[in-house]
Amino acid sequence: MTYLVEPKMTHSKIRFLVQPGGRLWGVLRVPGDKSISHRSVILGAIAEGVTQISGFLEGQDCVATIEALRAMGVSIEGPHDGRVVVHGVGKRGLKVPDVPIYLGNSGTSMRLLAGLLSGQSFDVVLTGDHSLTGRPMRRVTQPLMRMGAQIEAADGGTPPLIIKVSEGLRGIDYDMPVASAQVKSCLLLAGLYAGGRTCVREPAPTRDHTERMLTGFGYPVERQGRQICVTADARLTAASVDVPGDISSAAFFLVGASIREGSELLLEHVGINPTRTGVIEILKHMGANIEVINETTVGGEPVADIRVSASPLKGIDIPESLVSLAIDEFPAIFIAAACAKGRTVLRGAEELRVKESDRILVMAQGLQACGIKSTPTADGIVIEGGQIRGATVHSRGDHRIAMAFSMAGLCSETAIEIEDCDNVNTSFPGFPQLAKNAGLGITVRQ
Ligand code: S3P
Repeated sequence: MTYLVEPKMTHSKIRFLVQPGGRLWGVLRVPGDKSISHRSVILGAIAEGVTQISGFLEGQDCVATIEALRAMGVSIEGPHDGRVVVHGVGKRGLKVPDVPIYLGNSGTSMRLLAGLLSGQSFDVVLTGDHSLTGRPMRRVTQPLMRMGAQIEAADGGTPPLIIKVSEGLRGIDYDMPVASAQVKSCLLLAGLYAGGRTCVREPAPTRDHTERMLTGFGYPVERQGRQICVTADARLTAASVDVPGDISSAAFFLVGASIREGSELLLEHVGINPTRTGVIEILKHMGANIEVINETTVGGEPVADIRVSASPLKGIDIPESLVSLAIDEFPAIFIAAACAKGRTVLRGAEELRVKESDRILVMAQGLQACGIKSTPTADGIVIEGGQIRGATVHSRGDHRIAMAFSMAGLCSETAIEIEDCDNVNTSFPGFPQLAKNAGLGITVRQ
């Protein structure tokens, strides 16, 4: 099979070595928001006119979405220093790609594009790396097939997804069984091509960047509580998108500065959409010293600077209502819990088992290696705060686990070595350098 981008057949080579101690200090800007970056190029591609994007995340995941759209005939300039120019082809302007589309590690690309491509007049294959081809896709293929899409998946409902031309999509009224912004966004994108109305209801609030950005592209979206509806009877008009810093990337620094005495950071221009700020609330419940200042709105998304300084943390029962609002930040939050006084309990977070890795299992194994008592449960984890000791931990190719354990080095007795860190480039290129400049004793080893 020929792939759009050849998958790397070599084993991961990059390791992080983090010396204990130091402190985090200064002013920094984390790269652009991954979720908003994906959506900006997808909506830009099917809009009419030229969309200008700034602050775009140049991580491998978002570049995979760009490459996929290019393979379908969309002319895209960049990214250069976060600037991307998308020459929109309109809702009906995508072309059949010559080869299967390889999406690397990116679940967001796969699920959002599955929705977009179910309504096209050509066949397409979506595939990805070892992690992505193990991730559940029935959550999108089942409702899409109810809309009339023709999709084949591997046994177990996993990628590759073979999406065939259908006789036309029809809108559905769908109660989502899982709280997932990817599923919601997938169905809304399919709804742009479906007859009648497509309505989705989410069991808990999830990130609403798709809804906000559709509105920014002039597309009518009906929102009522947890229900969101679209029809196919409108067009998208090109827009300017300023992508704020990713709160999911900022989260590592919020935790690092909180756990290490003498730390103080100002994180500039971070997205603080209320569907994403669970991490701030959870850390504040634990006793963190976090202040959100200079709040403003940029292109329909709330943005602010965040000041954080070290503070003694205590273990808590994490409110289940915050789980979907902090879903990507738990690896970092678990490190905060490991450094807190007392027990932290997380429940209602079974979704963590189907992220880029099984984040409950992999974090528990890493924490245990670091001498922290942590007990995985079916839908969460129990962590007893204590003294982190040096260890070698395996990230299982999961970017957020690699970065979370890097921060653990600040409070460790001896060095922490983290294996399999190449995928940090999927969401946070330049992480080691930025963290080092802020005071983390991190080096990258081949
Ligand atoms: C994302 C939604 C979340 C999140 C992922 C990005 C998105 O996934 O974990 O990193 O951009 O819509 P789920 O929708 O599966 O919770």
